[in-house]
Amino acid sequence: MGLLRLVLLGFAATGAEGAACNPVDSCPQLSDGLYCPVNDVTEHADINRDVALIKSYLAEDPMNYAMAKEVYTMGNFSSKGAGNMRTLQDLALKDMTVSGKYTNVFYSGALSLYGSISAIWHDYIIACLDNTGMCKDKSDSFRQYVINKALIGVVTAYATYEFGAAVWKGANGETADGQAAYAWDEGAAFYIGNIAPVVGDGITGGAPGNLYSPYEFNWKRDFDYPDGTNTHAEAVKILNYGLINLRGAAYNGDNVKAAELGMYKIFSIARNPQRHQVC
Ligand SMILES: *[C@@H]1O[C@H](CO)[C@@H](O)[C@H](O)[C@H]1NC(C)=O
Repeated sequence: MGLLRLVLLGFAATGAEGAACNPVDSCPQLSDGLYCPVNDVTEHADINRDVALIKSYLAEDPMNYAMAKEVYTMGNFSSKGAGNMRTLQDLALKDMTVSGKYTNVFYSGALSLYGSISAIWHDYIIACLDNTGMCKDKSDSFRQYVINKALIGVVTAYATYEFGAAVWKGANGETADGQAAYAWDEGAAFYIGNIAPVVGDGITGGAPGNLYSPYEFNWKRDFDYPDGTNTHAEAVKILNYGLINLRGAAYNGDNVKAAELGMYKIFSIARNPQRHQVC
């Protein structure tokens, strides 16, 4: 008991390292059932449940903007331990390079385009929740659309932050499963989520529609292009490849960077405006 408490305190104090699963293949899986995390990243994946909850408040009649805002700012499903919640607002306002420590061109490109962290997603979300700024007197469906899509963007960006952290940790010799691989697992968890699909196996066929993760967003767009590469299914292979190349003696920095770039490409394809026109 005393020892356990000490160990738990140690985790709470550093907060940075994962608890690698023992045995290694015993971790809870994500919605796809094929990515193999080596850390328990359930709470990280749970942020997608907040996205789903906000969507359900915005589906009420009349739309419940107040409760949607409460979930955005205070969180609901995703705990960081010790009574602290991980919130979508925290994610949106995160400096995703940590003052340039982690390279993340996906995020720094967005930052230079929009000019400030809050201007990327947060200002739009708040304006549409509050009926202010660019959302003032817009229709409910306009505000709902902006909020729902922006939240997917926030979670996608946060996945790139975790990938950047994993790249940095790997390059700095932190290749134990609770180190770089933990950051990579977190990125996969944010991207895929862990809601059980209401139909199907979580990767083949049509998108189940209840995952509310960036992965499902990619999947829906894949369905518009039945003859093209299935980006959501490809992403799972890239994520497993990145993870394998971060673990201990198997560490290979070039391969990890290639996996990170592969994920950037998946995100960019999903956001191609040509693709958006068909939805
Ligand atoms: C989470 O949301 C549910 C409603 O779906 C609510 O009943 C519950 O109190 C909320 N929990 C927290 C911690 O905000």
